[in-house]
Amino acid sequence: MKVTAVDPFALALDLRSGALQPYTSRTQRHLSDMRGAFRDGAALEDLVRGGDPLVYEVLQYDLPEETGQLICCTTVLYPGTVGAEYYMTKGHYHLVRETAEIYLGLSGQGYLLLMTEDGRSWAEPLGPGTVAYVPPAWAHRSVNVGEEPLVFFAVYPGQAGHDYGTIERTGFAQRVLRGPQGPVLA
Ligand SMILES: [Fe+2]
Repeated sequence: MKVTAVDPFALALDLRSGALQPYTSRTQRHLSDMRGAFRDGAALEDLVRGGDPLVYEVLQYDLPEETGQLICCTTVLYPGTVGAEYYMTKGHYHLVRETAEIYLGLSGQGYLLLMTEDGRSWAEPLGPGTVAYVPPAWAHRSVNVGEEPLVFFAVYPGQAGHDYGTIERTGFAQRVLRGPQGPVLA
């Protein structure tokens, strides 16, 4: 196996804000990037017309996307709702299904939703100190049910890749909605 030589390095992670220094890429997703993800499409379009809020951003230290490397990133998912549905990430499978991921919750309160292509679904609470394991073949999406940003750190194999298209076609098995007594899994 041939792996690109990379020198050792260390990054600084702020354990509350999730700020990663240095990072080499920053991906921002606004509501207009998430058409089709939320149940209430009309509410989404109203919010897009009203200023198209930032839903989440991912700070990453990029490495060669190949077997042998581990890539880490921080996600900051802002609080908010579209209709009754809490802000969430797009969610993805890994292109290479045989790859896992570790999440470490840093601040805020939410859920990690997971599902498989053969119909299993799962929800794990995600908050400060949560270490969640995303096994191979499980799609994953996070949802912020709190009033503060939901921040988590993640590590995944370099070759994993991201498959957003399957989720765009199939949606996710579960949604998290604001109910009178708090979040409801639907
Ligand atoms: Fe992932």
